[in-house]
Amino acid sequence: MAFQFYSQTCPVTVGCGSISILGEEIKKRGLKKPLLVFDQGVKEAGIPDKVIKVLTDAGLSCACFDGVQADPSADVVDACGEKAIAEGADCLIGVGGGSSMDTAKATSIRTSGFEGDARKYVLQFPIKVETTTPVFLVPTTTGTGSECTAVAIISIPEKNVKWSVNVNTTLAVIDPELTVTLPQLYTATTGLDALAHATEGITANTSNVHATYMGLGAVRKITDHLLDCYNHPTDINARMEMSIAANWGGMAFNNPLTHVSHAMGDAFGCHFHTPHGLSCSLGLPDSLRLVAEVRKKDMRDIAEAMRIPLAGNETGKELGDLVAEKIFGMMHAMNMPSLKSLGYSREEVVALAKDVTENHLSTHCPVQITMETAEKLLGDVYDHYQ
Ligand SMILES: [Fe+2]
Repeated sequence: MAFQFYSQTCPVTVGCGSISILGEEIKKRGLKKPLLVFDQGVKEAGIPDKVIKVLTDAGLSCACFDGVQADPSADVVDACGEKAIAEGADCLIGVGGGSSMDTAKATSIRTSGFEGDARKYVLQFPIKVETTTPVFLVPTTTGTGSECTAVAIISIPEKNVKWSVNVNTTLAVIDPELTVTLPQLYTATTGLDALAHATEGITANTSNVHATYMGLGAVRKITDHLLDCYNHPTDINARMEMSIAANWGGMAFNNPLTHVSHAMGDAFGCHFHTPHGLSCSLGLPDSLRLVAEVRKKDMRDIAEAMRIPLAGNETGKELGDLVAEKIFGMMHAMNMPSLKSLGYSREEVVALAKDVTENHLSTHCPVQITMETAEKLLGDVYDHYQ
């Protein structure tokens, strides 16, 4: 008998205005000096000021590291660690999208007393580091799910790769009110990143019952509410539903991990420097089409969760085509740019096949990702969405 394994990372508080509890949650753990970790976009949206007010109202002092960059490098993590130590911080708060939260998570290795810089721990095949510095995570996008996953994904620029490390986290505070200032493009791309997390978690060859049910719940919410968030950014009900969907998407892939859509996304991000959500969602329709025959039941469940009318006798291929076309429709409705419109040629895209085959995420795809498969898939991704 095959057993299934799944784990949870940390408690989650979700609700409008929930950021108000953060100061007391930190104080009741005996902590006194958080370091807020965020990027310039979050800063310009005024979100750190709201968090700082909550902390000061609770009688806490705090320091800030505002040097997070998209696809944060190991050097950014090391700089954040230096800041945390210099400030005497006893806990970390990642405020933002995946880049800010992953920087805070990876920084906790250094502040937990492990020696050496980030490159020693951020590896091609991630290891678990038993960190002890408390890490609080406050998402301001509705996509990454990083607030509920063990993994921190960090770029190693000299190798043109994104590698990762697994750490402990303490508490996620999901406040949908912090997401209403998210620009339309990022609402679209991070929302579709969440769809990729959910559907890849469901269809990975390492999937489990937890991933399936969390993932399908996320797929329903994304189908029902992502376009509302895009078209009506201050629709707080839609933002709440997408905040939950992103969190469930994160839980869906926490154990199985993602597969070939994210492997392609890593390659696009490393070579073209396209944002993570855009990078991963561009390849999602064709990735799901690729695995549809071998994951027919999952594909039927995903199609139903996406509210696609079904006759009941569809083949796996037909289900994959229906799901892919539904996602393409969402991408067009949200004016997602294509690789072609961003200025990349078909040859440049297909040339990333070796990166895709060497990415450990491809080993989680239920279809073997050979060079031939990767080249065809990348060509399809380029051709099918322009
Ligand atoms: Fe992702």
